[in-house]
Amino acid sequence: MRASSLLQAVLPALLAGRAIASGTTIVSALNTVDSKTEALDSTVKSWSGDILGSFPILTKSASLLLAIHKGKDAAEDSDALTSDEALGIASAVTTLATSVNSTMTTIIAAHEKFEHLLLAPVVLLDLKAQKAASDDMSNAIVAKVPAALQGIAQNLVAPIDASFNLAIDAYSISNGI
Ligand SMILES: *[C@@H]1O[C@H](CO)[C@@H](O)[C@H](O)[C@H]1NC(C)=O
Repeated sequence: MRASSLLQAVLPALLAGRAIASGTTIVSALNTVDSKTEALDSTVKSWSGDILGSFPILTKSASLLLAIHKGKDAAEDSDALTSDEALGIASAVTTLATSVNSTMTTIIAAHEKFEHLLLAPVVLLDLKAQKAASDDMSNAIVAKVPAALQGIAQNLVAPIDASFNLAIDAYSISNGI
């Protein structure tokens, strides 16, 4: 009796928890990814190339990876999106693509500094993990967009993947392994 009334009390909360993720949750997750991306960009930009200054870069990079994973989770947990929700997400993705382009440009430009500290292979591993997570996140989002908008959604996420690929290429060439 007690157990069943406990279940009755808890079950609706659990079910509600499942249904909470939606368009706004995805937009908010994407905005978090965007701000972590920008934080990484500005940290690498202002880095003089010293070993101490590399630690906050690696921390911010790890924090970005975590945010991308959360974005993927938010998309996977979401119900199918309405066209209005997809529109809001399109705008967040476009903003993110701009930030990723800028951050990857910055990271490519800093290649020599990382290599000087023998950290280029670490950066390469980070980039590969972030690209893989970002691909998963993009696929999860596209899957929830209405069928008629999926082609557009794919075009919007494509530049993010292209930016990661450029940075991965830049770090793959000269790391000697
Ligand atoms: C950034 O965007 C420009 C313009 O589309 C493109 O030419 C460049 O290759 C991109 N760079 C990166 C790192 O994504």
